[in-house]
Amino acid sequence: MTQDIVILAAGKGSRMKSAFSKVLHKVGGTAMVRRVLTTASTLPESKLHLVVGHQGEQVEANCQDFSANIVWQDNPQGTGDALRRVAPYLQADGATLTLYGDVPLIRSSTLAKMTALSTPNTLVLLTIALDNPTGYGRIVRDDQGKVIAIVEQKDASASQLAIKEVNTGILLAPNKHLQTWLASLTNYNAQGEYYLTDVIAMAARDGVDIVTVNPENEAEVAGVNDRVQLAALERELQKQQAIYLMQNGATLLDPSRIDVRGELITGQDVIIDVNCVFEGKVVLGNGVEIGPNCHLKDCQIGDNTVIKSNTLIDDSQVGESCDIGPFARLRPGTELSNHAKIGNFVETKKARIGEGSKVNHLSYIGDTDMGANVNVGAGTITCNYDGVNKHLTQVADNVFIGSNTSLVAPVHIAEGATIAAGSTITKQVGEKQLAFARARQTNKDNWPRPVKK
Ligand code: UD1
Ligand code: CA
Repeated sequence: MTQDIVILAAGKGSRMKSAFSKVLHKVGGTAMVRRVLTTASTLPESKLHLVVGHQGEQVEANCQDFSANIVWQDNPQGTGDALRRVAPYLQADGATLTLYGDVPLIRSSTLAKMTALSTPNTLVLLTIALDNPTGYGRIVRDDQGKVIAIVEQKDASASQLAIKEVNTGILLAPNKHLQTWLASLTNYNAQGEYYLTDVIAMAARDGVDIVTVNPENEAEVAGVNDRVQLAALERELQKQQAIYLMQNGATLLDPSRIDVRGELITGQDVIIDVNCVFEGKVVLGNGVEIGPNCHLKDCQIGDNTVIKSNTLIDDSQVGESCDIGPFARLRPGTELSNHAKIGNFVETKKARIGEGSKVNHLSYIGDTDMGANVNVGAGTITCNYDGVNKHLTQVADNVFIGSNTSLVAPVHIAEGATIAAGSTITKQVGEKQLAFARARQTNKDNWPRPVKK
């Protein structure tokens, strides 16, 4: 059965106290509404509708790639009102699943359980029993246990307030019935709003079966209203991700001190020390070890590479058995071949470093094509920028570069060349040549030191 999926994101979110739409605040590095859109996109044969209102331009601009039908809800008057605005776009047959832009951790497996129960005469409701149901709509059942209504907190009687089973807000309703129910919603309630939840009593009245499904865990249906709840959900997601990593063969020295804001793929026997942050897509090969306080973003790390503490890697490819850090910074476009070594206080950018080459201390290597088995002395800098353009430094295999060398690009150092320490290299150095490019030292005998006047 084809399915419409409506994601509500028109609310004000005033408790966030933010200039940005609530649903654009991130959980695990991704805007909440984008998480919901991504999850919704996994359901087959579905058509996405995104209801926007407050700060709706921001939401629309940030979600364009999902090509959802954007429905504006100016002057929002409740969840039922939101669905009414979408009503003209719903398919004649099929069913409509309602999701929330501020309930980001809902799982597709749970939604699939709901859709499996959907028929033209069934309404599927996602409910959960909570120790503290305060604030939620309560699920009212009759003597036979059949759902007959949802009563909002503000409209509930004392006995209804004692009900622990609550409405998560997520429901799946057959379109033919839904259209009729939406048309007859009223706003005669404590909040003067059109409640989507009122369709439950209408369904019961019309003899539609109301079935309930429970999520796998509470976090799936937790909504974010303020930054305290946002932080709590972030911790919950990080905990889930840490468990997943460990179950897949990674050792986390402290699973409560890792942050994955994107996708982290780990090989076997990866060891990750504390306070590491992973962003975008990061792939770690087998046996990779990462020291404390590292930040890795959009990179691929080959088998058995060791990354020591306080290293930053962004948009780079690292080969196998490399040795990086501590305090290294690999900027975008860095490519390390196997067994390369990048030591402390070394910055690389758009640099290909060949197999077994070493840049061990205090260097900047940018816009560089370096061969294999090169040794770069401490303090060596590629002068890649003339103030207007960037230029390439080429270093062939087996070159030895003495400490504190400036390589003024464009420049080419041929195979097996040696550069004396302290040189400023502006011209090509040929194969196996030794280049000195520094002032010659002069020593004066018996130099009279200046004396204080
Ligand atoms: C709603 C449910 C309640 C449920 C709870 C779960 C109704 C009437 N009540 O209550 O039973 O327990 O969710 O969290 O549905 N929104 C719009 N347009 C509107 C109003 C809301 O897009 O006109 C969006 C909000 O941005 C939000 C979501 O709908 O993402 C829920 O709205 P909210 O006002 O927070 O509903 P609750 O009072 O929490
Ligand atoms: Ca809410």
